Order: sequence, then C-alpha cells, then structure tokens
Amino acid sequence: MSNATVPLSRADLEAFWLPFTSNRQFKLKPRLLAKAKGMYYWTPEGRQILDAVAGLWCVNAGHGRAEITQAVAQQLETLDYAPPFQLGHPPAFALANALVKIAPAGLDHVFFTNSGSESVDTALKIALAWHRVRGEGTRTRLIGRERAYHGVGFGGISVGGITPNRKTWSASLLPGVDHLSHTHDLARNAFSRGAPEHGAHLADELERLVALHDASNIAAVIVEPIAGSTGVLIPPRGYLKRLREICSRHGILLIFDEVITGFGRTGAPFAAQEFDVMPDIITLAKGLTNGCIPMGAVLVSKAIYEAFMQGPEGIELFHGYTYSAHPAACAAGLATLGVYEREGLLTRAKTLAPQWEEAAHALRGLPHVIDVRNYGLILGLELEPLAGKPGNRAFEVYLKCFERGVLIRQSGDIIALSPPLIVQPSQIDQIFSTLSEVLRGQ
Ligand SMILES: Cc1ncc(COP(=O)(O)O)c(C=O)c1O
Repeated sequence: MSNATVPLSRADLEAFWLPFTSNRQFKLKPRLLAKAKGMYYWTPEGRQILDAVAGLWCVNAGHGRAEITQAVAQQLETLDYAPPFQLGHPPAFALANALVKIAPAGLDHVFFTNSGSESVDTALKIALAWHRVRGEGTRTRLIGRERAYHGVGFGGISVGGITPNRKTWSASLLPGVDHLSHTHDLARNAFSRGAPEHGAHLADELERLVALHDASNIAAVIVEPIAGSTGVLIPPRGYLKRLREICSRHGILLIFDEVITGFGRTGAPFAAQEFDVMPDIITLAKGLTNGCIPMGAVLVSKAIYEAFMQGPEGIELFHGYTYSAHPAACAAGLATLGVYEREGLLTRAKTLAPQWEEAAHALRGLPHVIDVRNYGLILGLELEPLAGKPGNRAFEVYLKCFERGVLIRQSGDIIALSPPLIVQPSQIDQIFSTLSEVLRGQ
C-alpha cells in the first residue's frame, strides 16, 4: 500500500521541520498532498486540487509526465551516478547543448548546480572570479535590489532584499553589497496590464552607485527580470534596458535570475528574450527538470567562459557540487526540454495571456483588492492588509482556495499565480472563479 494513503498522526508530523512554513500552525491542521497528474494534485483523502502555481513555479509541463519519469528511470538503471569532477557522461553534454539552443543568443556555456540558490551563488562567484582572471580583481562589489529573492545561500540573501531573510543573519552577510530600490509603485502603477508605465528611471540609481564606489570596484548587478517571491513585481517599461546600458557603459556584469521566469513563464523561453535585454549570465532551476528532480544551471556568455580558458592549464574554476550534472537530473532535463518543444510550451503563455489578463483584471473592485498585475502566465494580486496583521488576509484566501480545490500561493498580502503552461482555458476560468468567490466572502 502506498504511504500516501496512510493518515499521519500528530507524532508522525513532529520530526520533519518544514521549510518557510509556520510549523506549529501546520502541524495542528496539516495540508497534505499525496498524488499528482497533469494540472491536479490529490490529497490523501482523494480531494482534487487544481494547481494554479505549477507546484512552486516549477512544474511547467504539468505533473507526472511519463516521458520524464521514464527517462529518469532508464538513466538510473543505466548510469546512476558519475563523479562530475575530471569525468563526464553523455547526458550532461547533451543537456548543456540543448539548453544553449533555446537560450538567448550568445549565452553558450552552462554550469550545472542543484537548485536556484546554488545557481545564484555560482553566478556571483563566477562574476567575481571573471573580473579577477582578467586582471580587474578590484571589482568585488555586488549589487542586488530591494525585494529581491535570490534563494537562501549566503550570497543569495546578501544580494536579496527580503527583510526577514536578512535580519537574522545580518552580521554574516557578504560585505560590499548595495541594493537598488525596488520598482513596486502602487501609487502610479496599480492595475497595470503587462509592464507598468512608471519607474524606468529607477535603473539610474546604478549610476549613483558607480559615482559613489567607482566602476573599478563593482563586479555585477543581479536582478530577477520579474521578481516572483516578493509578490510579482513586473519591470517598468524600459527599466531592464536601462540597467543593461549602464552595466555595459561601466564594465559591470548583468546577471538575470531567471529561476522563475525561465522556461516559458513570460511567453518566451526566457525573460531576456521576452524583454529583449541580453544579460551576461542567467541563473536557472525549477522548470529545467519540470520540478521532478532538483537541478539548476548557470548560463554564461562566451566571453566569460573564454576568459577562464586562458593561462596555464589546470582547474579553471574552483567550484562544483557532488551532484553537478547528476545523470538522473540531466535525463530529466533533456526529457523536459523535449516535452516543452513538442508541445510548444515555451511560448504557449503568449497565446493564453489575453484570457489570463482579462480574467485577472475582472478581480478589480472585489473587496480589499488594491492591485492586479500580470505578465505571461503570471498574476500578482495585492490585498489591503488587515490592520496590525500583515499577511493574514492573503493567508486566509490561500486556505479558503485550498479548501475549495485550488492551490494558489501567498506571500505577505500578495497572491501569486503561475499555473503549469499546459493549463486549459476552462481551468483558467475555474482558478479565477474560485478566487473571486473567496474574495467576495472576505
Ligand atoms: C528568482 C529566484 N532565485 C532563486 C531561487 C531559489 O531557488 P531554490 O529554492 O531552488 O534554491 C528562487 C526560488 O523561488 C527564485 O524565485
């Protein structure tokens, strides 16, 4: 009998320390998932839940894809593990080549990791090491942005801009990090459809930091093209282009953290293509393996890779993980990219975006809704916080939607939606009608 159907007692729940979760609250009234297929999860009691968030922005091709499962099983039977240092295996090269094919032109080398957090730390380390191998070792400062989420490694929380993430470890953050202002401006941009009008000038803060520190001390700027975890912050029109121009003018590397925007979420394979802005480095994870095996990747430009390939032969980058390019993850990645290509999923969000946008903006005017914002198959819905209880209102909405069979995501008083890219129009209707009913009852 599958463990998934055995009810868990309070004692059974004790040992597992759930991440980013209110453990005491959860263990009093746990929400469990037992099974998944296509657009749906099922609870152990057999209740069907429509997945409006692709798990956690990662199951872009929908759950339980047989092609991926079989590829992973076959790979584990053939070659379960191969050390990635000083050895290689064919699927690793195949996946790197397949990724380069869909990546923005010019990003043609791939370093594999196991998560988004590791991708971010890897990208920051590559940026610092790159300046050093080129003889510009004074470029050590990193620039992130307020309200950014770049995972939970020390690098990621240092350039990230989430207060609780930074508060606890404030004395241990990387030195030499500055933050650009976030671009969230409800007063001027509320209820924007697609990229908001106001805020491109916020990129000019980078010029201010250059004037303060001198470009010769700045290594890289990292931003999420669309910030997801802090509540779907869509870049103002022209903002990313302006950042690119300033970085190029001063020899600063531009890193796009595409852990959530990668693999079709915006309507193009990557946000860099969608916004027509070419970064020097892209960090990836999540949709790379459709969420079924942990894996991340860092795409870098030829100029970056080539700079490391000069000088005496030897290990060019002292960095890597035991599970970099794990055979099972590579097999999952290859099968996932195959599904994306065959089913046109990397651009399908573009086709569905008009319906998505209409349904999203129909929520305007419902109780406590202070903003609706959307891009591709992404929604950010911001609610007026309950006095003295920030986050409680949206959490209530999250719980009620779950009771009514739709899984959404809540961050503070913002609700984020990002369904699998296989979502059907009728399922979009169901997501929004459920959300609307719940909001009306608030
Ligand atoms: C933009 C971004 N970067 C990095 C991460 C961290 O990824 P992981 O949780 O796989 O470490 C996330 C996770 O949501 C993310 O959204």
